Amino acid sequence: MKKITKILAIIMVLAMTACLFASCGKSASGTATEGVLVMATNASFPPYEYTEGDDFAGIDVEIAGLIAEELGLELKIEDVEFGSIIGGVQSGKFDMGMAGMTVTEERLKTVNFSDTYAKGVQSIIVKETSSFNSFDDFFEGEGDDKQVKNIKVGVQQDTTGDIYCSDTVENGGLGTDHVIQYKTGNDAVQALVAGKVDAVIIDNEPAKSYVAANKGLRILDTAYAEEDYAICISKDNPELLEEINSALSKLKSSGKVDEIISKYIAA
Ligand code: ARG
Repeated sequence: MKKITKILAIIMVLAMTACLFASCGKSASGTATEGVLVMATNASFPPYEYTEGDDFAGIDVEIAGLIAEELGLELKIEDVEFGSIIGGVQSGKFDMGMAGMTVTEERLKTVNFSDTYAKGVQSIIVKETSSFNSFDDFFEGEGDDKQVKNIKVGVQQDTTGDIYCSDTVENGGLGTDHVIQYKTGNDAVQALVAGKVDAVIIDNEPAKSYVAANKGLRILDTAYAEEDYAICISKDNPELLEEINSALSKLKSSGKVDEIISKYIAA
């Protein structure tokens, strides 16, 4: 009898230890802090995320608010550099990253992405007086002689615009010599206004917002493919991915996602 009690006690201790390890670093809600959903963003990307006084506003901010509500969590927003969102999500510092973030093969190697909730495409912003009318205008010469003109293009560091432009000419880019990276999209646009770069390459909706907010700029279309925006979540947290996806699908089918998007983007 005594022996059985002892064995039972050992089994219980082992089970409890296993439990402790399994839930290590995660609360019951699957987030790092019980009851809180920490979203990392880079709030210089209107209409998806921007600041209004001390508050955050935009499509991502509103959708995230509704997701948190669905999950019964309090949303906490951290405004960080775009390039540090994925690392912070991977390390568990942030529960999710939501920043008009494009799903790419490369990023999928390090984080999971939710179902997509919006689409974007890269645009080129130039000065109204610029002679450039397309991406092709950045080049001169034909065939083997084809080379980039003496120009500089501004991008937000670590974004898809940066990745495309920094690629080699053979791969459809301009090469790093022709690219200047800025911390935010707004910094890149201000460099264009100041004449420090000849063009800025950035997602279409932020491009429209920046052109509306700054005099003397215009947008050129590009032939780049459409990009899907989604929320990134640590690969270590498949439960949260599932919860976010079911919240998203609820919000999509109830028309809430469309409602938020059309509030910020004129059809
Ligand atoms: N869609 C682009 C990307 O994923 C740009 C996103 C920039 N977002 C931001 N909040 N600054 O690389």
